[in-house]
Amino acid sequence: MCGIVGYVGHQKAEGILLDSLRRLEYRGYDSAGIATLSLENNLYQTEIRRAAGKLENLKVFVKKNPCPGNIGIGHTRWATHGKPTEKNAHPHQSNPITLVHNGIIENHLQLREQLLSQGLVLKSDTDTEIVAHLISAEKKNNHADFITATRAAVQQIKGAFALAILDENEPDIIICVKQSCPLIIGIGLGENFIASDFTAILPYTNQFIILEEGDMAVVKKDSILISNFYGIEQKRPIKFLDWSPSVAEKNGFAHFMLKEIFEQPVAITDTLRGRLSFAENRVVLDGVHLDKLKYINRICIVACGSSFHAGMIAKYQIEDLAKLPVELDLASEFRYRPVLVDAQTLVIGISQSGETADTLAALRHAQSKDALLLSICNTLESSIPRLCQHSAGTLYTRAGPEISVASTKAFITQIVVLQLLGLGLAQQRDQITEDNLTRQMNALLQLPTAVETVLQQDSHIQKIAQHFVSATDMLFLGRGALYPIALEGALKMKELSYVHAEGYAAGEMKHGAIALIDEQMPVIVLATRGHVYEKLVSNLEEVKTRGGRIIGILDENDDTLKSRCEFSIPIPIVTKSILAAVATVPLQLLAYHLANAKGLDVDQPRNLAKSVTVE
Ligand code: M6R
Repeated sequence: MCGIVGYVGHQKAEGILLDSLRRLEYRGYDSAGIATLSLENNLYQTEIRRAAGKLENLKVFVKKNPCPGNIGIGHTRWATHGKPTEKNAHPHQSNPITLVHNGIIENHLQLREQLLSQGLVLKSDTDTEIVAHLISAEKKNNHADFITATRAAVQQIKGAFALAILDENEPDIIICVKQSCPLIIGIGLGENFIASDFTAILPYTNQFIILEEGDMAVVKKDSILISNFYGIEQKRPIKFLDWSPSVAEKNGFAHFMLKEIFEQPVAITDTLRGRLSFAENRVVLDGVHLDKLKYINRICIVACGSSFHAGMIAKYQIEDLAKLPVELDLASEFRYRPVLVDAQTLVIGISQSGETADTLAALRHAQSKDALLLSICNTLESSIPRLCQHSAGTLYTRAGPEISVASTKAFITQIVVLQLLGLGLAQQRDQITEDNLTRQMNALLQLPTAVETVLQQDSHIQKIAQHFVSATDMLFLGRGALYPIALEGALKMKELSYVHAEGYAAGEMKHGAIALIDEQMPVIVLATRGHVYEKLVSNLEEVKTRGGRIIGILDENDDTLKSRCEFSIPIPIVTKSILAAVATVPLQLLAYHLANAKGLDVDQPRNLAKSVTVE
């Protein structure tokens, strides 16, 4: 939700800011803006350029109206307070202060009243502008310097905020403030960078400082001084990241989403690396404090969106393998319930970004009840793993940066690590035979090849998608672990194609949803062979009888069922434990191609953002 960047050094800030924002645009694309400090007639002045809509609009504007200077800040917005107009675009200014903000100032209404009563005229409808005025007022009224004024202002604001702030009168400093929103500083030679995440500034540096809750950093081109909001110095380690900058590029693919779908075999292989020990016949759960899990008697999973669907699959996996009861909650619901968890409950938070506000709050809620916390996460050093580090730890997916708003490779690797966790717990609790464990580990090893096989269906799926460009509704049906995949397929379709889509447990359809079926209704049926195959065949026939247009996701040799479908997508025959992961791939491609055929912006669907750091 909103991305912020900053640069101070010897180079021109404008190009670096725009380039970094391009890699952060997945966090929001309602408007964008930059501000720099430029020297004119021995006086520094603030140059602000802003544009509504995507970053491209800002680039066009900046090309005509350059933004000189070697220090600057930038922002790409996902609107919360105030419409996505130029007026509400960041940076916001209250001379001599200019700033960008990610998060929400929760007490902004009260502060707004206070400022209005002092005769101040506000230029925007945002919560952010208030902060600029607070700092400016501290400077004017109390003759405070930039640092002292910022410190005094941030003590007055409540909520979630990552801020990057400039002061025209102190033109060699950017002040950064972090509270419940991610913010990192990239270290260069005679230059320093600021960003909401690593990928934004990877081409410039691989050395980073990750700011912690309540940090305020004074960043100059050759120094970084970190303190808390009360001025007490804080030491933060420098971290090295060996990612190549190309991870945040499309590398010849039309969209990040397509690239990320095709990266899945590698992402799975990376996620499995070192975690299957055939020599010792065990899974290695690096990062998990397994000894702490010996006495748990139940598991609660909290997550949102696709991560929630991965959690639903985990319920089937973990209950089956480890014989532990698993409950599941949407993080946004769990956080506001008086939940019944205790020291014998393991609460697992699943999150690609590690920053989702609801999941973070749900875990904090569980922590307050003494539950053990474990996270499944794709983003190193993000807030959720940091919260869990002194509890049961984190099992990282190793999907690499996921840029597309729609989750694909992160989702499939979540399924993989949750299966590993199920195996690890089963082993710890003596619930799995040696033979079965070897079989399950071998099955996981087959997964990358099975996904490759599905990816070969890409052009076939693209052709199928062409037939449904005018569909307004869709149903996705599955049973067992394929029911969450039906939900995931429907979510992908909704968020990318703006088609109203519903995932249904196939057996539940006759209790209501069947009324929706007519000759216009495309129904995607996940009907691979298994213990409920016959039931699924019956469900498929029920749809067919009512004229529904069936797209079957079928075993590759199932010619009988194929003849009952208008279209079919064959997938390789795999063991039950990896079927959900394999079956998700055709649905990702279907949603991608349908959205693309409709001419929609696949990587940046309307109204969405990748990291949902607000409630
Ligand atoms: O970063 P998280 O995994 O916590 O994000 C959760 C959801 O916001 C996310 O999965 C969302 O549903 C995706 N856009 C779905 O493709």
